[in-house]
Amino acid sequence: MTLLVAISGWPEEPWLARFRSLLPDLKVVSQHAEYDPAAIDYIAAWKPPHGLIAGLPNLKAILYLGAGVDHLFADPSLPDLPISRVVDDDLTLRMSEWVVMHCLMQQRGAEFLRREQDAKRWFDGPDAPLASRVRVGIMGIGVLGADAAKKLKVMGFDVAGWSPSGRSVEGIEMFAGAQMRDAFLARTDILVSLLPLTEETRGILNTALFRKLARDGALGGPILINAGRGGLQKEADILACLDDGTLKAAVLDVFEIEPLPDSSPLWLHPNVTVTPHNSAGSDPEAVAAYAVRQLRAHQSGRPMQNIVDPRRGY
Ligand SMILES: NC(=O)c1ccc[n+]([C@@H]2O[C@H](COP(=O)([O-])OP(=O)(O)OC[C@H]3O[C@@H](n4cnc5c(N)ncnc54)[C@H](OP(=O)(O)O)[C@@H]3O)[C@@H](O)[C@H]2O)c1
Repeated sequence: MTLLVAISGWPEEPWLARFRSLLPDLKVVSQHAEYDPAAIDYIAAWKPPHGLIAGLPNLKAILYLGAGVDHLFADPSLPDLPISRVVDDDLTLRMSEWVVMHCLMQQRGAEFLRREQDAKRWFDGPDAPLASRVRVGIMGIGVLGADAAKKLKVMGFDVAGWSPSGRSVEGIEMFAGAQMRDAFLARTDILVSLLPLTEETRGILNTALFRKLARDGALGGPILINAGRGGLQKEADILACLDDGTLKAAVLDVFEIEPLPDSSPLWLHPNVTVTPHNSAGSDPEAVAAYAVRQLRAHQSGRPMQNIVDPRRGY
C-alpha cells in the first residue's frame, strides 16, 4: 500500500513526517520523489498539479487536505473517484476566530483608532455601537459559516444566514432560496462570505450585490468580509464600491491572484484589510490525522466522511 503526498504552496516536510508517523505500515512518498504511478493506492493532496491524479491508474481515493476543492475540480482530467475534504475542529475554530476578530474590529472601529493613536490623538467621539445593533449576514453557511455564526451570536451580533437550499442552522435566523436573497442582503451591515468557489458562485461578490446591502446600519455603510475564495470576488468592483461609498470597508483573506501582486491597489487602500490567505490554514498535526482516519475507513470498507459532490462542485 502506498500513499502519495502531493502538496503545492505549503512546506511538504511536516506533512510527510506526520503521515509517516501515523501510517507505519504504508509507504509514504512525495510527488517530488521517484515512484511507480501504478503502485499508488491513495493520494493526500493540496493543489496537486493538474493531470497528476489522472496518471495514477490504481488510485482508490483522494484525501484532500483543505476544505475547498475548487482547484481539484478545475482539473479537466480528474478521474471519478471518492474525494474526502477536510472538516475538522482545528480548521473550523481557526476560521471562527478570524471571522469574529474582524467583525469585532469593524464594529469597534479598530483601524480608525489605530490611525488616531499613530497621530497621538485622544479620540473623544461617540462610542462604538453595541454588537447587537450590527447585523451580520453569512453567505455560505455550511460547516465554517455555521460555527462562525454561533460564535458571533455569543458576542451579541444580530446574525442571519442565507442558504439556497433552505438548510437550517440552530439558533440562527435563516433566509432561504433565491426569493429571499434580496431581503437577506437588505438587512446585512457586515457580509461574511464563506462560500465555496463553484460555477454558480464565481464573481458573486460584485457591484450589483454590494448595492443591495443595508445602507441604514449602525456602522455607517456596509462592510464585506471574504474568506471563501478569491474567485468569488470582483476586485475592481470592490475598489470602485469603496471609492463611491457603496462599501465602507473590506476585509479580504483571499484574492483573484495569490499571492496578491505588489501592483494591487488593495494593499494600500485605507479601508481594506488584507490577510494572506491564512484565516484557517490546514495544520499537519490535526489534518493529517483526519485524513488518515478517512484512509483507514476506506481500507476497511467503511464510508469516508465529507465526500464532495462533483455535480455541485463542493
Ligand atoms: N481562507 C481560508 O483559509 C479557507 C479555509 C477553509 C475553507 N475556506 C473556504 O470556505 C469554504 C466553505 O467551507 P465549508 O467547510 O464551510 O463548506 P461547506 O460546509 O460545504 O459549506 C458551504 C456552504 O455554502 C453554501 N453554498 C453553496 N453554493 C452556494 C450559493 N451559490 N449561494 C449561497 N450559498 C451556497 C452551501 O449551501 P447548502 O448548505 O445549501 O449546500 C453550504 O452551506 C470552502 O469551500 C473554502 O473555499 C477558506
